Amino acid sequence: MRKTIPIAQPIIGKEEIEAVVGVLKSGVLTSKFGDGPYSKKFEESFAKYVGVKYAVAMNSGTAALHAALLAADIGSGDEVIVPSFTFVATVEAVVLTGAKPRFVDIDPKTYTIDPAAIEDSITGRTSAIIPVHMYGLMADMEKIMKIAREHDLTVIEDAAQALGSELGGKKAGSFGDFGCFSFYASKVITTGEGGMVVTNRRDNAEALYSLRSHGFGRHFSSERLGHNYRMPEIASAIGYYQLLKLPRFLEARRKNANILTSILEDVGRLELPFEPPGYKHSWYVYTVRLKGCRAGERNKVVAKLTSSGIQAEIYYATPVHMAPYYRRKFGFKPRSLPKTEAAARQVFSLPVHPGLTEEDLKYIGQKIKKIVG
Ligand SMILES: Cc1ncc(COP(=O)(O)O)c(C=O)c1O
Repeated sequence: MRKTIPIAQPIIGKEEIEAVVGVLKSGVLTSKFGDGPYSKKFEESFAKYVGVKYAVAMNSGTAALHAALLAADIGSGDEVIVPSFTFVATVEAVVLTGAKPRFVDIDPKTYTIDPAAIEDSITGRTSAIIPVHMYGLMADMEKIMKIAREHDLTVIEDAAQALGSELGGKKAGSFGDFGCFSFYASKVITTGEGGMVVTNRRDNAEALYSLRSHGFGRHFSSERLGHNYRMPEIASAIGYYQLLKLPRFLEARRKNANILTSILEDVGRLELPFEPPGYKHSWYVYTVRLKGCRAGERNKVVAKLTSSGIQAEIYYATPVHMAPYYRRKFGFKPRSLPKTEAAARQVFSLPVHPGLTEEDLKYIGQKIKKIVG
């Protein structure tokens, strides 16, 4: 039988393995401020890659989002504008600070937050916006930054899926006051678990250094409430070598996405992902919409793909405002975000990671054609 084609696959080479062994032999596994030698090297090369002044390593993308919100002084009494069509961590981080999420709908073509809907949702309590670069395609950061500057709002980019994505030649994470990344095992580069916050402001970077290590200042004494969000040296070593390979990974993803598009472009029932002019996709996943369908029909297609050895996934079948905890806590109602809820019923994602062969991609394309074509 054919081996299942996974939706994501870490690509780890001998450089990462040797670096990990080197860390283990060195005995320096972490440091009390999170500024061990590999963490500093990883941060420096990451900041340079994204085109920002500072990068601060964290131990997950969720920690990165939470720390960025805390560094921006967001807390109880604040409202933060977020999409509901995202991974729950975007919203969880807001709720952890004591602030209230204010959900807005998406652009149904790009699945990213709709700038016009942001403007309509700003209240006297709004203090920040978290645009999410869904599936690797950036939100309309030019419009969002303009709105944020007019209303004096902090912008925290959730670039967990979009390392290397661009708009107008500028990298994801470099538009907002903060940019947050994840290195979870499925991401474009991985450290197993891990995250990064980038910023151009020194005071923000200093707040992040402190927040990731118990609120310490220059000395081993807490000046604010903090966490243990430090990235271990083993993870930083993996991340450093993964980042060197990122341009190659992104090229392979683009090539794979183009192959799927060339096979699927004549399937009338499917709406395919695309790069609007000026944008560069990271092709984290290849997400298609089964036009006009109910969730049941889409779920059957995904089940058929799964039984054919293709790991298709639904990101995200339950928008955050519909998840039990968020409904209970905030009283969010169904049918309040129609474009988000339609996407949640109709999309599914396919693999385009660098571990795929051309034969895998042809197999995926042909199976889909057979199922929905
Ligand atoms: C959009 C988005 N935000 C936040 C996260 C959280 O990152 P992590 O899993 O590293 O905590 C993820 C990924 O898992 C994500 O996809």
